[in-house]
Amino acid sequence: MPRIPREVIIPLDFPDKAGALRFLDRFEGSGERPYAKIGMELFYAEGPSIVSEIAARGLKIFLDLKVCDIPNTAKGAMASLSRLPIDIVNCHALGGLEMMRWAREGLESGSGGGKRPLLIGVTILTSIDDKRLNEELGMNGSVNAAVIRLARLAKEAGLDGVVCAPGEAGHIHQACGEEFVTVTPGVRFPDAEKGDQARSVGPDDARRLGSDMIVVGRPITRAADPVEAYRRYRGAFVTAS
Ligand code: C5P
Repeated sequence: MPRIPREVIIPLDFPDKAGALRFLDRFEGSGERPYAKIGMELFYAEGPSIVSEIAARGLKIFLDLKVCDIPNTAKGAMASLSRLPIDIVNCHALGGLEMMRWAREGLESGSGGGKRPLLIGVTILTSIDDKRLNEELGMNGSVNAAVIRLARLAKEAGLDGVVCAPGEAGHIHQACGEEFVTVTPGVRFPDAEKGDQARSVGPDDARRLGSDMIVVGRPITRAADPVEAYRRYRGAFVTAS
């Protein structure tokens, strides 16, 4: 399978529909159709109709709801989500092999045997460091080792890729194959405010390190000119040679 085309994904981290649509209005007439990520904040506030409304603008959608439950419930959740016009959806790899397999089956049930959305695993949240992993959660080893292990498990369950830190993307491709998708948040040009992303890399480094898709939020959503900011990230990550 060929590697997926590189994309810059913009998270619509807004508390309501009005804020999200006002932001997307800035792109109208620009010729740019950014990949949009809808997370828990907007989805819980507005419900599934927000997905259809944004998809109707011709945008691709990553629905970032991080499903995690017993296999049967995860399958049902994915079957419900499969009826929405989405391109990527995710679940926690920590739910285990069976849960991920059932989640995939639930997603497939809505596609009627056709092309289903990509299913991506969340490995270890970037808010968890080695100390928290070992002492708070009682899991041995490093975050890096846990991430690789969970990425392999996601692959075994038939998932299409994982969310990961930029520095992990290369190792994940080595372990799971070139076509296994790596989606990477925490990307910023050095001149951008870091916000709460303690470790961030530039879009050019993310590309060099092997990320397939980067998620860039506040440097674009809070820019004076979001279209120009988006083009700058796209230029460095997607179209640079
Ligand atoms: O504004 P910023 O670029 O930091 O936004 C990053 C986006 O990626 C947010 O939607 C955040 O929830 C998401 N994310 C993250 N780190 C992870 C997983 C997701 O920042 N490990």
